[in-house]
Amino acid sequence: MMNTGDMLQVGGQKQIFKAFLWGKQAQLSPIFRYFPYFGHYIYCNEWRIQVLHELLCRREVFPDGILYASKESHYSVFKAARMYRMDCIKIETLMSGEIDCTDFKAKLLQNKDKPAIVNVNIGTTFKGAIDDLDLVIQTLAECGFSRNQFYIHCDGALFGIMLPFVEQAPQITFKKPIDSASVSGHKLLGCPMPCGVLITRIEHVNALSKDIEYIASRDVTITCSRSGHAPILLWYILSKKGRIGLQKDIQKCLQNAKYLRDRLRNAGVSVMLNELSNIVVFERPPDEEFIKRWQLSCQGNIGHIVVMVNVSKQKLDVFLDELTEKLSTWSKEGAHPCVAFDIGRGYCFCFFYRISFDNNNRGRDNGDNRGHVLYNNWRGWLWSRGGSYSNNNASTESQPSNRSVPA
Ligand SMILES: Cc1ncc(COP(=O)(O)O)c(C=O)c1O
Repeated sequence: MMNTGDMLQVGGQKQIFKAFLWGKQAQLSPIFRYFPYFGHYIYCNEWRIQVLHELLCRREVFPDGILYASKESHYSVFKAARMYRMDCIKIETLMSGEIDCTDFKAKLLQNKDKPAIVNVNIGTTFKGAIDDLDLVIQTLAECGFSRNQFYIHCDGALFGIMLPFVEQAPQITFKKPIDSASVSGHKLLGCPMPCGVLITRIEHVNALSKDIEYIASRDVTITCSRSGHAPILLWYILSKKGRIGLQKDIQKCLQNAKYLRDRLRNAGVSVMLNELSNIVVFERPPDEEFIKRWQLSCQGNIGHIVVMVNVSKQKLDVFLDELTEKLSTWSKEGAHPCVAFDIGRGYCFCFFYRISFDNNNRGRDNGDNRGHVLYNNWRGWLWSRGGSYSNNNASTESQPSNRSVPA
């Protein structure tokens, strides 16, 4: 089963037409019913292809545009920029992982003569931070970029499906001046093959499309033939779960993420959970065997757990029990590494911050990323068994260059 041509147009060839209609129904109905994005075009393919397609749209719109993406954006964004040889500027992030609009503003002002193509993360990969879309739009306006001088893409790989079901979540909608948005099908929805949905304003797609006589349709995507199974499975999952089922799944993920955060915190582990996020970020366990056994994804001094629907409280309990048991052997005199540079001192349980802060204040000053005087010394020996904390480069990289460490 495959799709080809323009899924919003009826094709002329019989086999294609049939697959096409299936794909068309599968793609359109539940997405439009459940997700308030209301874009003008839907596309289903692997993520990489989506990124390439969407970046190509952006480049067609602004051939000399500069891509702005926060440094916490998914690596595929930078890879696609390299493939297209686009100018790309990395923006600093706040401790939460959210784009730092002060840095964004400074970099926009340095390049006022070129259109801005902006990648807005609706949930960053590692910390699950949601970029402030309204602030990004406001920053563009403050720097003098009019609507025809910028293109905004909202990367909602995981959270794009979650946010519409969460009260008080920021609104990601085409009523705002955005140009495209994307969600993955194989993450929260659990589609068994890599796939996703990209919604783009029709005028951007038109710039790329061309009539192809032998398929009796317009060629509008970066690939020619595409899997027709992915949209059907997406349709099946969405229809079977329905709005209530999806909402329940999402609530479960968010509640279990809070449960994991609280238990880690009670065990004395440095931990951070962004608002509206199911990604729990915590200090990297100093034991590679443990990391492998639990398939923890780690980056420098921190690791994370993405609490998906299959991660039950029971499973978390098994993990937490094993972790707490090992903690006593890992940590010397109850000491923990300083992760103030990674998640903010308000969440850091290292010896210095443990004694410096009243427990009641903990977690309230996430915006301050200062490490402490002993930071470098600590890293040398704390939790150093097995060399797990030897990833000095990754950690240094995560220290924002525009902020100073007190001497
Ligand atoms: C924000 C974001 N964008 C894009 C991707 C790419 O998704 P995938 O390669 O799984 O399709 C991810 C994956 O984690 C992500 O978190």
